[in-house]
Amino acid sequence: MQTTFIMIKPDGVQRGLVGEIINRFEQKGLRLVGLKQLIPSQELAAAHYAVHSERPFYQGLIKFITSGPVVAMAWRGVEAISVARNLIGPTNGREASPGTIRGDYAMDIGHNIIHGSDAEETADFELKLWFEEELVEWERSAENWVYE
Ligand code: RTP
Ligand code: MG
Repeated sequence: MQTTFIMIKPDGVQRGLVGEIINRFEQKGLRLVGLKQLIPSQELAAAHYAVHSERPFYQGLIKFITSGPVVAMAWRGVEAISVARNLIGPTNGREASPGTIRGDYAMDIGHNIIHGSDAEETADFELKLWFEEELVEWERSAENWVYE
């Protein structure tokens, strides 16, 4: 089992895609173990995107992420990190395949609706950063039908 950090970015919230996106993760069979809406502070955004601090798009990215509410989530499942990245699709919405979240809803590299952790170390770091110890431990009875 892995837990991955997923964030619906301000464009996804403004465009009314919160329910649609949660639906896709739920229906895939992942288990929701953390959920909150917040407007990220400069400090939180900077910590989250610290790996990109030297990139030319960094300032714009921080401005975008702090521009309004995001929905922060933690989703758990077998290989949840790569499963979620596959649901999300590649960074550039114009190149993402239909059927993925970005492929269906995004037309841009920056405004690409959603973030998902890219590896176990980044998932651990991001979950700690956004949720501290707040995750909810529960069993999803439907998982007996999701996994053999
Ligand atoms: P994310 O971290 O948000 O899940 O997206 P990702 O892995 O697909 O992309 P990453 O390379 O980690 O970039 C993080 C976010 O920065 C913005 N970006 N803008 N203008 C640009 O060239 C550019 N490149 C990246 C995107 O919002 C991207 O999701
Ligand atoms: Mg990334």
